Amino acid sequence: MLRGPAGSTEARQRARISMRLKDCHSFHDFRELARRRLPGPIFGYIDGAADDEVTHRRNSASFDDCDLVPNVLRGVAGIDLSVTVMGQRLALPVYCSPTALQRLFHHQGEHAVGAAAAKHGTMFGVSSLGTVSLEEVRARYPTPQAYQFYFHKDRGLNRAMLERAKAAGVEVLMLTVDTITGGNRERDLRSGFKMPLELGARALLAFAARPRWAWDYLTHKRFELPQLDPHVPMRGGAISVGRYFSEMLDPAMDWNDVAEMVRYWGGQFCLKGVMSVADAQRAVEIGCTGIILSNHGGRQLDGSRSAFDQLAEIVDAVGDRIDVMMDGGVQRGTHVLKALALGAKAVGVGRYYLFPLAAAGQAGVDRALGLMRAELERGMKLMGCTSVRQLGREHLRFR
Ligand code: LAC
Repeated sequence: MLRGPAGSTEARQRARISMRLKDCHSFHDFRELARRRLPGPIFGYIDGAADDEVTHRRNSASFDDCDLVPNVLRGVAGIDLSVTVMGQRLALPVYCSPTALQRLFHHQGEHAVGAAAAKHGTMFGVSSLGTVSLEEVRARYPTPQAYQFYFHKDRGLNRAMLERAKAAGVEVLMLTVDTITGGNRERDLRSGFKMPLELGARALLAFAARPRWAWDYLTHKRFELPQLDPHVPMRGGAISVGRYFSEMLDPAMDWNDVAEMVRYWGGQFCLKGVMSVADAQRAVEIGCTGIILSNHGGRQLDGSRSAFDQLAEIVDAVGDRIDVMMDGGVQRGTHVLKALALGAKAVGVGRYYLFPLAAAGQAGVDRALGLMRAELERGMKLMGCTSVRQLGREHLRFR
């Protein structure tokens, strides 16, 4: 399980009888509220990871092995948190990573995330497994949008998806490269979590335990996957995310395929899930403009290194030739500051906004991003820095 904050606030939260959005002051609070509002299998899908969830735990823990060394008396009256990454100017150095199935967590889904990201001036991603069409969100939320792409066995489908994203005017293409087969997500195996939801006896019991969620789910727009449905009607019935990866994605995908995609896209193109120096260099060679160090929130290869642990090595190797970003385990503004000080251009968050989405829709995501902004501003002041550019390795010591 995820570690709670010191003194096990988690235990205290569990004891709390009622809890609302205004009671949420941290990742841990949002997670608890989401746990109370979601049916067990859906909460487990977001919260869970692969095998023994070692990498998942390490993702957050890795930040604790690194201490911040602040400077004082630097005149920090005005703080500028803006960064330019993948050709986009963002008001925050944190963006909402693309994640799947959002309308399952809250009926507003991608609309909530797009609106909150736009309000805070940052980028958000829409997934190939998104539940609102990329065109609809692109038209509605005036902020940079990334499109997360899965490379399918069906090359015609890949081409059609790329053409749609191009026509929609998506700013950044993010190709996920760490899902060549499904991760072993044992919580999903035990709960029987599938997409779309299967309404068997076990699921119905879980939904009955969360009547408010069930009412919202049943009284809003029917669940669909508009990035895929026009091409691959999921009429074969519900499948697990793991089976989707293993059966529909192309394990033969290689650097030549990606080089071709980069040429075809002709714009900002990043690989999500690069971890080795050799691969980072290869990404530069084929013309990618960014890489995201990521282990998919610990949901794919358990035992793989955390992005934060691996960041310095990658920044040193390619940081002057490509935008290096990272995600995984980010729960605090100070986690972001540590990654920026090591050389990341921006940091992605997933569960950090998904639990708030599940807890309270757009208001939840808005509150979470607002708290992140406040933590970043406070952290920068206490570090003696007024702009993200001033953060450097001199501000860090590893234990
Ligand atoms: C997951 C995919 C869909 O981790 O990103 O579940």
